[in-house]
Amino acid sequence: MCGIIGILSNEQVGGRIIDGLSRLEYRGYDSAGVATIDQRAIQRRRSEGKLQALRDILESDPISGTVGIGHTRWATHGLPTHQNAHPHATDRVAVVHNGIIENYQLLKNALINQGLVFQSETDTEVVVHLIDQALKAGKSPENAVRETIEKLEGAFALAIVFKDNPDLLIGTRRGSPLVLGINDDELFLGSDAWALAPWTKKVCYLEEGDTVIMQRGAEFTYEIYDAGNQIVKRPLKELNLAIGAANKGKYSHFMLKEIFEQPQTLSDTLLSLVDEQSKTIQIESPFDLSNKILRIRLISCGTSYYACLMAKYWFEKMAHILCEVDLASEFRYRDPVLNSDDICVFVSQSGETIDTLAALNLVKGMGCQTVAIVNVPESSLARAAHKHILTMAGPEIGVASTKAFTAQLMVLNILALQAAEFRKVMDKEAVLKHFTDLLHVPKQVSQVLQNVSEFDKLGLRLSQARDILFIGRGTNYPVALEGALKLKEISYIHAEAHAAGELKHGPIALIDKLTPLIAIAPNDAWFEKTASNIQEVSARGAPIFVLTDDHSFKVNAHEFQNICLPKSSSVGNCFIYTCAVQCIAYYTALHKGTDVDQPRNLAKSVTVE
Ligand code: M6R
Repeated sequence: MCGIIGILSNEQVGGRIIDGLSRLEYRGYDSAGVATIDQRAIQRRRSEGKLQALRDILESDPISGTVGIGHTRWATHGLPTHQNAHPHATDRVAVVHNGIIENYQLLKNALINQGLVFQSETDTEVVVHLIDQALKAGKSPENAVRETIEKLEGAFALAIVFKDNPDLLIGTRRGSPLVLGINDDELFLGSDAWALAPWTKKVCYLEEGDTVIMQRGAEFTYEIYDAGNQIVKRPLKELNLAIGAANKGKYSHFMLKEIFEQPQTLSDTLLSLVDEQSKTIQIESPFDLSNKILRIRLISCGTSYYACLMAKYWFEKMAHILCEVDLASEFRYRDPVLNSDDICVFVSQSGETIDTLAALNLVKGMGCQTVAIVNVPESSLARAAHKHILTMAGPEIGVASTKAFTAQLMVLNILALQAAEFRKVMDKEAVLKHFTDLLHVPKQVSQVLQNVSEFDKLGLRLSQARDILFIGRGTNYPVALEGALKLKEISYIHAEAHAAGELKHGPIALIDKLTPLIAIAPNDAWFEKTASNIQEVSARGAPIFVLTDDHSFKVNAHEFQNICLPKSSSVGNCFIYTCAVQCIAYYTALHKGTDVDQPRNLAKSVTVE
């Protein structure tokens, strides 16, 4: 979603703001812009489309200034046009915004009644006019911002520069993330620390309601005010981000690189939780296992939700704990019935997903213990939860989540195993066998990746399809759901997944010669049942592609192919088949020629509702 950069420096900032914005591209956007203050004027350039378009504009029409703000916009209010691109500005002030001002229409109507003319369809423009009016009335920039944000409802992170104060940059946040970067002779704002990493190692994560006033005098100074306007000290953090992760290396896309990183990220995640030698779990359980656990609730969105659906099978089968899985966007608005001893686990790659964060705050407010499983250590979710566990996937740049998903599966599986062991549902031998199975997973995933040519060929075939169905049973069902989501996200082909047993209850009506079926069918406890469902579909003429470890599996279909995968354990299959569906989605999109890493309309972290 929208990305913000701000720089206050002694050097020219225009080019560096664009550089910073390029590190926020992964979040997803459809227009971009930059504004600086120089020679007592606001200089502003904006463009539709990708950053390159903005670079081209700046090349022919450069800007100057040592303070400035930049923005990548993911359209919410108004089309992704030049007119709606940020920064929004008057003669006195320029603003970039991430989030949604929910009461903007009310504020806009009032401003229009006062005779103001709006230039854009955005919710953000009300912020600019409100600050401008306060400045016009003689308020200081700091007070103009304070007075304005008091009138705003919704979520926002804002970075603001002022024509008459070229030594000042203000940032403020409520709901959306904002990070302050600190050097002796420069100060920065960024939507995430990653964007600031090449410039500074010292950062401060602004907290809910914080406003930072950054000034250039003899020295560069900043003051942080909390929501009650009291000066506060926030902890400084030393950044330790692997900048190399920002390169695609030998891969044509970040997504492909991240798929191939999985043997390593799975091993890193596993070994952060267990001791390989003694085959024991090293981390303390985030749940109070000695208490009678009645129910675990897993809450999340998108791909992370599918990781939770998979974990439901594990918590219930392995540990005999009732597990409920919820979409955060539904959970937060349906007045859920919670017991104070419910364990609520929130799963998120980014740790910034607004619905997941809101659901966590709701649950906390009701007195329940919260655990976050996140990939970004300093994310809002990690900081808001009572306890958190990190997935060790490293920065994930491709919008379509791959390695973060499998790392989430690994963490969730270990938590289920730990609960099963503690509750003595699994005996010592079964636990040891499970450990051995998990330790084999990274190698088995790398076997899947040793020969991707079959996925490539299948991708070429599927790229011709208009609709594709996935089916699976048991833990293969969440794999099917994830396969369909990955495919539609990056290839734009309509895909849906169904529990194989549900086909006859409706979806089989969709089957025809033009709708390929992809069956997730390892030879496991559910195989015979899924095989019958595949027969039923083939009898109705669909092209059949079966992901299986049973090389002899055959059905009579006008188009049929087995995609053979390594034999593994039940838990190993969850990772192997996930990796396969990721590859199928990747190669299908590649053959369709879509933008794999930044698919249309999608954002990496969904920071607005
Ligand atoms: O960062 P989160 O895991 O909370 O994000 C949740 C979803 O927005 C995310 O998984 C989304 O579905 C991805 N585009 C999946 O590839």
